[in-house]
This record gives sequence, structure tokens and C-alpha cells, in this order.
Amino acid sequence: MQDFDLTIRNGTVVTATDTFAADIGVKGGQVAALARGLAAGKRDIDAAGKLVLPGGVDSHCHIEQLSSNGVMTADDFYSGTVSAAFGGTTTIIPFAAQHRGMKIRDVVADYAKRAREKAVIDYSFHLIVADPTEEALTQDLPAFIGKGITSFKVYMTYDRLKLDDYQILDVLLTAEKHGALVMVHAENHDMIRWLAKRLLDRGHTEPKFHAVSHAPLAESEATHRVIQLSRLLDVPVLIVHVSGIEAVRTIRAAQTLGARVYAETCPQYLFLKASDISRPGMEGAKFCCSPPPRDEASQNAVWAGLADGTFQVFSSDHAPYRFDESGKLPKGDKTTFKDMANGVPGLELRMPLLFSEGVGKGRIKLNDFVALTATNHARMYGLHPRKGTIAVESDADLAIWDPEKEVKIAAAMLHDNVGYTPYEGRTIKGWPEIVVNRGRVVIEGGKLQVDRGSGEFVPRGAPEPLKQERKPTTEMRLFKALIA
Ligand code: URP
Ligand code: ZN
Ligand code: ZN
Repeated sequence: MQDFDLTIRNGTVVTATDTFAADIGVKGGQVAALARGLAAGKRDIDAAGKLVLPGGVDSHCHIEQLSSNGVMTADDFYSGTVSAAFGGTTTIIPFAAQHRGMKIRDVVADYAKRAREKAVIDYSFHLIVADPTEEALTQDLPAFIGKGITSFKVYMTYDRLKLDDYQILDVLLTAEKHGALVMVHAENHDMIRWLAKRLLDRGHTEPKFHAVSHAPLAESEATHRVIQLSRLLDVPVLIVHVSGIEAVRTIRAAQTLGARVYAETCPQYLFLKASDISRPGMEGAKFCCSPPPRDEASQNAVWAGLADGTFQVFSSDHAPYRFDESGKLPKGDKTTFKDMANGVPGLELRMPLLFSEGVGKGRIKLNDFVALTATNHARMYGLHPRKGTIAVESDADLAIWDPEKEVKIAAAMLHDNVGYTPYEGRTIKGWPEIVVNRGRVVIEGGKLQVDRGSGEFVPRGAPEPLKQERKPTTEMRLFKALIA
């Protein structure tokens, strides 16, 4: 008979493909058995009436990150990971962000030290590549891929981060050669820059003009362009934080053609609108992120994309800034839409919001919820099957979910360091009551149960394609040999 450290009994286990009644026996931090009527563990948790889901994997969050304008996020690796855990997430993949002129190895060493000292759940990093020098492309990126950092984010906008098309082609080819995935922030820099200047010159400074300058066409143009760059090389690409109906359609059309294009969306594009940014005074700054929330047609298109598989991953893009001089309002009442830190919080509410409004309201299936919040992140980013599922020998990363619990959202109940939530006052149904990471009960009874620094870095493998990808044609193989 097995001697389990922990047994979770009588729950309904849900994975990306199956829903079944089973007990889970945990030993040495892993799932050791999955069957009915398991022996008692050193500790037993009764999950009768509860759903037992894989702990969430949030593959897009900004933690203890210096923005390109030099503003530090409100959450460090302690508050960020505590907040994630309370919301049912057990692994995060934030960014180690290079700014131009910085050496990638120094950037990674810096983020790794801070995370090691503070994180309470498991983590990895993506690299933000802002300076793809010859040294970075030929030495640093391959070296870090070898150490398990198998994804990079590149930006098509922001003065100090933006790569041009030539540089993006370099990063795409390097990623494919060494087994990494490129995530792209797709917005047309010059459209945004030009519009922002015209607006500011005419005295249009309020938060709502952020959404005007980050026009939907800026997103759809850049989305189209980076898809063509990836198709030119037949290299996969993942478009992050997709917000607008045209971008969704552009991605779907490319996928239909067989392009190796994947996509992510986030809570703000389902639950917020550009009209929120138009709230009076500076209030709208609380809803400003890039790309900005759009209109109802775009919200509906994003919901449809989640249901039909256009989107593979649902992430928070948690970019936490306080509603004060340290973040959203660096110049107080005189802050223009160009001065505000971009981003909204969402780590803790990502899963509860989608569960309530997606699964609860019949818009997505429960198994798809698991895929969108955990399994697909693990597969796309090389963590599967260790993370993102419930299976024998997987890490025991679990969220024991009460599907009936009603929660009225208030900033005061959240565990981040932001001080406000864009979702204040909404009532949602379904909440993770007990959260387990590598067999350790992290959250129980509304309290954190583990120590600062007890989370671990998880090295990642090569990305796993989620779709049956077609074989390259002979012409493409010859072309790739020519440019290799
Ligand atoms: O507004 C946002 N999303 N800020 C975070 C930076 C980014 O591009 O993801
Ligand atoms: Zn971005
Ligand atoms: Zn982001």
C-alpha cells in the first residue's frame, strides 16, 4: 500500500480532456496515484462537492519589472506570487526584461536572485529581447534556451523596446534554430506615436485618449505584419494580449491557412471596455493598458475566439501600478495619457473571472477552461507534463475549487500591492479554496501557508505545438537551407 504525504478525496478531477471522480495521492511533491478509494495520507483533504483542477499557469505577468520608462511594478516576487496563489495559480512565467544596452546574462541573474528570495509558488522567466545584437543572438539566447528559458517576448512598439521587422526576423530564426517560442506585442509604433502627438498637441490629455492613440488598426496592422514575418520563415509565433475584433479575425484567417500562429488574450479584453477609460477625471487611468480594452463587438469576438480555439492561452498580463505618483499618476492631476504607466492587475482574478463568466455562463466548457488557464500554457512553454495537468508523475499542483462560492470583488480582499482592482464590485461565482503547489498546501482557510522564497525556478523544455502542424513543403525546406 502507498504511503501518501497527502490524499485529496472525493473530488471531481478535471483536466483539459476529462472529468472524473477520483482521489489523488501525493508523494514527494508529485501525483503518485489517481484512483477511487485511495489509502489515507499523512494528511487528508475532503474535496466532496468540489472540483479539483490543475493549478493555473499564468504565462504573462510583469513582476518586479522596471518598465521601459523606469517605473517599477507595484508587485515584487512576494506579493505577486502570493496574489497568484490566492487566485488558484501555482506557476507563473513573468519576464526578465532587457532594456537596450543591458547584457542579457546580467538581466537574468538579477531577476533570478529576486525571485529566489521571495516567490512562494513555482516560476520561470521569458526574456524580453530589446537589443538583439550579434552577441545576444549567437551566444546569450542559445545559452539561456539551454538553461530552460525557452521563450522571448519582442515588442513592435514602445520607444525603448521596439524591434524593427529586420530584427524580429533575426529573433524568430534564432528561436526556431535553438527550440524557443517568440511572443509578440503587436501594435504599429508609428501609428500610435503619430496619433498621440496630434492628440497631445491639441490638448487632448485625459486617459481616454490612450485608447484613441492605441487604435484597433494599429493592433491589426502589426498583427498581420508579424504573421507575415513568421510565415516568411515558417516559424511559430504567439501574439500576446489580443484585444480587437480585427486582430482576432486576422489571426483566425492565418491559422486557417495553416500558419504557425498562436494567440493569447486576457481578462481586460472580456470584462473591460474603452468606455471604462473614459470615466471622469483621472479614474480612467485605472483601466489603461496596451492594447486597451475595446468595445462590445471586440469582447464578443474574443469570447468567440476562446470558444473556437483561435486562442490557446488566457493570461493575466498583470502589470501592476498603483493609482498614485509611483505608477499611474506620475504628475498627479497633470498626468497625460502618455505619462501613465500602462497595465492593469489581474493575477488573482484571472481564473475566477473566466470560471464565473465563461464556464458558469455556458460560454466555454470546463475542460477548455483548464486548457486555457493551465494545460496549454504548460505545453506552449515547455512545462508539460510536469505542470498544467493532473496525472501520475506530474507535480501535485492543484486548485480545489468551490464552484458555488459567490464572491463580491473588492480591492481589499486581494493580495497584490496595487490598491485598486478594475473589477471592483462585480459578483462572481466559483473560487479556489485550497491551492497546492508541488504537494505543499499553499493556500487554505483564506491564509498563506508557506514561506517566502519556497517557490522554485522550473527550467523549461522546447515548446510543444498544440495543433497538428503541417509538414514544410520542399520549397520551404530548400529556402530555409539557403538562409540557415
Ligand atoms: O499595458 C500593458 N499590457 N503593459 C504591460 C506591458 C506589455 O506590453 O505587456
Ligand atoms: Zn505587451
Ligand atoms: Zn504584458
